[in-house]
Amino acid sequence: MNPILVALDVESAAKAVALADSLRGSVGGFKIGKQLFTAAGPAMVRELTSKGDRVFLDLKFHDIPNTVAGAVQSAVATGAWMVNVHASGGSAMMKAAAESARNAAAALDRPRPLVIAVTVLTSMDNKALDEIGVTRPVLDQVVHLAKLAKTSGLDGVVASPQEVTAIRLACGPDFQIVTPGIRPADQQAKDDQARTLTPAEAMTAGASFLVIGRPITAAANPREAAEKISATLP
Ligand code: C5P
Repeated sequence: MNPILVALDVESAAKAVALADSLRGSVGGFKIGKQLFTAAGPAMVRELTSKGDRVFLDLKFHDIPNTVAGAVQSAVATGAWMVNVHASGGSAMMKAAAESARNAAAALDRPRPLVIAVTVLTSMDNKALDEIGVTRPVLDQVVHLAKLAKTSGLDGVVASPQEVTAIRLACGPDFQIVTPGIRPADQQAKDDQARTLTPAEAMTAGASFLVIGRPITAAANPREAAEKISATLP
């Protein structure tokens, strides 16, 4: 499948639906995050999944295991294809998320969603980690949490392009690595993304999926932009 997941970071269902309608068939799926979900809710997710779209529901659950299991169950009911949790919620929480995804999908007789983990937010540096009592360097903590996600039964992680190689090495070929912070070669150093890779570089480094927002959604012709990026992929 096409590895591009387009981040629908817009404020209304109408805008998200228009974007998805214009991009359908040229990308692998869509990411719905906290902004759009808080504005448009599960109906937004269902609207896309009912049209056959793969939806990565990026709500980064982080709570006690029972609550996260319930949230994952609700996510499965929307038809989401991928959901995520914070690895720092611990192995019991991640195991509960994975088990809930399996059980809820079986009850509805549909494929279970991929459940992946956020390791360390890319907005955090060594100093920010130290502040919350984590004294390891960021990359060590990222790899530590990626391994914990794997042994807890999760399918993969969200990771910055700079982390892909180390995670691929530590977690093996079947682990899903979803990578934001992607900028096409002619759009490097754009927006607020500081450390970016091109789509081709990220795939070569070992990414499974690329989350791409503004390079596609802010283009004059989003479909053309998506097709142009797809053509550069290895
Ligand atoms: O527009 P852009 O391509 O920067 O969008 C990237 C998307 O990936 C946004 O939805 C952003 O919130 C998300 N993201 C990110 N960096 C992370 C995790 C998620 O940019 N480390």
